[in-house]
This record gives sequence, structure tokens and C-alpha cells, in this order.
Amino acid sequence: MEKTRLRFPEGFVWGTATAAYQIEGAKDEDGKGESIWDRFTAVPGKIADGRDGSVACDHYHRFEADFDLMKELGLRNYRFSIAWPRVVPDGSGPVNAKGLAFYDRLVDAMLSRGIRPFATLFHWDLPQALQDAGGWTSRATITAFARYAEIVTRKLGDRVKDWMTHNEPWVVAYVGHLFGDHAPGMKDLKTALAVAHGILVSHGKAVPVIRAHASGARVGIVHNLEWVEPASQSEEDVAAAMRHDGAFNRWFLDPVFRGKYPGDMMAWFDGFLPEIRSGDLEAISVPIDFLGVNYYTRRIMAHDPAGRGTQGRSILAARQVHWPFTPRADFEEWEMAPEGLYRTLLRVAREYKPASLYVTENGTSLPDAPGPDGAFHDTVRLRYVARHTAAVHQAIADGANVRGYFLWTFMDNFEWAFGFTKRFGITHVDYASQKRTVKDSGRWYSKAAGENGFPISDAVVPD
Ligand code: FCB
Repeated sequence: MEKTRLRFPEGFVWGTATAAYQIEGAKDEDGKGESIWDRFTAVPGKIADGRDGSVACDHYHRFEADFDLMKELGLRNYRFSIAWPRVVPDGSGPVNAKGLAFYDRLVDAMLSRGIRPFATLFHWDLPQALQDAGGWTSRATITAFARYAEIVTRKLGDRVKDWMTHNEPWVVAYVGHLFGDHAPGMKDLKTALAVAHGILVSHGKAVPVIRAHASGARVGIVHNLEWVEPASQSEEDVAAAMRHDGAFNRWFLDPVFRGKYPGDMMAWFDGFLPEIRSGDLEAISVPIDFLGVNYYTRRIMAHDPAGRGTQGRSILAARQVHWPFTPRADFEEWEMAPEGLYRTLLRVAREYKPASLYVTENGTSLPDAPGPDGAFHDTVRLRYVARHTAAVHQAIADGANVRGYFLWTFMDNFEWAFGFTKRFGITHVDYASQKRTVKDSGRWYSKAAGENGFPISDAVVPD
């Protein structure tokens, strides 16, 4: 009997994740300031369906009911983010008491239902006023972030004990400042690398601030990592894969865990490197309690002198290759490859030795449609989650200290440049009525969390 089930370690954290801009709405309410996403979504052509996060899931007004549902599903751990412009509307000036009070109520609403809060300070919605003054390339933004961290942890630190400084610095740097697909929509490599550096320094400066104001806090950072493989064993493809790994994974892991940028990539980016001031790398490599890993895909890379790099942009003289037998998500470039999560967790555990690990995001987008019975039978997502959590289970068995898994995402929401055209939720949201309907994957996940495991057959039976 036991051998037919995957049982997770005692106390394993089963949770879901969201981010403020993607769910809250209430764009101008209670004194909130403008964020770069408010500005960016207003630019014609930037968002697939031309929509924005001004209402989104209206979570700002519906959080009590949302947490009731979370509780009903037995999902007792919740990763959410705080909107900086609600708390400090212009980023560095006066504190907005009403904005802070919202998060105070939000945290109490979680705690009263037995839900453990895991808070992210920055999930991309930078106050526009800071962007206007140079954004993450400016040292003033780093100072403002440390102050914002203090303001928030002074208020919530008595109750919130799990903190993440940043979500996916790679995305902010590259997608926002090199590819131009995210706010603030710039396209410049030197700026992108300066932004990455500024974010990492701000992480390092904020860690001790959080610890000072949230006693006993566990503090970490969230990186999006990919499992990278060369398209062939040719020297050129191997080097291309190494560059992708370097730009995507190692550029963000090495400074945090080793206090330096990877030498091969320093050489590759020569001429575009950020200014690194004395003390920066020491700050970035401050010891942390956990690394959060967001994992969505494996990437097979081939050498390509024409230089089509990740997501079609030319910086790495590399190109992504798809093998036709690998299933893909609704995000075409994202392959469903749970073994990549297994390998990533083991690799990070062995090479970087973080004190502990969480999978802080993992999930998939599918064009969900209701069945004739009105229910959402999202079997593909259910299998995706079963296979990826099984990969986590195996990584733990093989020595990675993974404490928990947060599924992206609790409910369908505003998916950045894709607007509302992508659905990652285990709960369906009808945006016209704001009705929530739990999908089959949500019921499955609820049961797995409740039983701290599931039958192996859930992860291996073909769809
Ligand atoms: C991650 C983001 C998250 C969500 C998922 C699908 O990169 O952190 O906000 O958009 O992708």
C-alpha cells in the first residue's frame, strides 16, 4: 500500500501563489500611487487583449471570500506580494496609511483562517515616480527599497515570518529592459544588466532590515530557474547551452551564493557590464534562510550565429530548439518537463548549498473551457501538478532540502503582457461576474495537501 503512494515529509508546505498587480485591482483606491504596470498597460499594443490590472480579480474587495475558499480547500500556505505604490505612493516619500492598513487586514484575514502568509516585497510593480528617476539603475531606488522593506516589516513583521525580497530579477531585468515586453518596456542590454545588479544589491540591503523588524523571520529571494540542455553534444551547442545557463541561472545565483558574477559571462557581456561598487557583492551575498525557485520549463539550446537568443532576442548567439515529442503549455516556448524541476533542485542544492529551498512557483496555462456539466476538467493541469510535485518528492529523497511547493496560481489572473488570455489558476475566474469555480486540478491539489501525498498513479497514468 505505502509503495503505491508518495508521502511527503512531515510539515511539508503545500501552498499557492499570487502577485498583487495580477489579482488586486483597486488601481486608484485608498491613495495608491501609480506603478510602472499602470503606465505600461495603458500603452496601445503592449498587452495582448488590450486590458489591464485595474480590476483583475477584484481581490482588494473580495479577499475575505477568497480566503474562505482557500481555507475550504485546506490550502494553508499562501505566497502573496505587497504593492509598493499602495504603501509608499511615490516610492520614497510619505507613507500611505490606508495602503498599509489593507495589508494589515489581509494578513489578519489569512491568520484567522489558519493560513500562513509568505510575503514578497517586490513582484514587479515599481512606483512610477522611481522609474522616472532611473528605476533600478539608480542607487536612490535601492535606498527607497530598504526603507519600504522597513515600513512594511515594522507593520507586519509581528505576524508574517516568511519574507521574500524579490520575485524573478531576471524577468524584471531582461523582459522589462531588454526585450521590452514588460514594464517599463525598454530595450537595452546595458540597462538590463544594471537593473539586475540594482535589484540584487537592494535584496542584500533589505535582508538585514527585514530581520531587524520581523523577529525570527526567515528571509529569501525568488529566482526563476530553467533546466538547460544542449541540442547536441557538439562543442558549439554545449557552449550555447552554457551561455543560456550563465545568463539565466548563474548570473543570479552566483552573486547571491558566491559573492561574484560568473567569469565566463562577465567576459561575454564585456562592454555592457554594470558599475559594481565596492561592498555591492558582499551585500548581495548576505546569508539567506531559503532560496525560492520558480520553475516552469526546460530549455534546449543550440548554437546560432545569427544570434537568436532566448525568446528570439539576440544576445547569446543561441536559439531554443523543441523536440517534437515534448508536450508544451499554452505558452509555446514552455515545455512540460518535470524532470527539469527535479534536476534543477538537485543542482542548486549541490552547487549552491542554500540553507533550504522552496518551489515558490510552478504551474501551467491552458485554454480551459467548461465541460457540458459546467465544471472545469483540466486533466492536463492536474497531471502537470502531480508530475511536478512528484519531481519535488524525488528531489527531496535524493537530498535536496525542499521545504514546500507553491502552485502558480490560486486563481486565474492578469498574466502581464498576455492580459487575461492565459489561465494558470486552479480556480477559474469569470471576469465578468467575478465568480470563482474550483477546477479539477484544484480539487486534486486540495486532497494532496490534506493527505500530504497522493497515489503514484496520479503522476504516471497517461492523460
Ligand atoms: C512568473 C511570474 C508570475 C506569473 C507566472 C506565470 O514568471 O512570477 O507572476 O506570471 O510567471
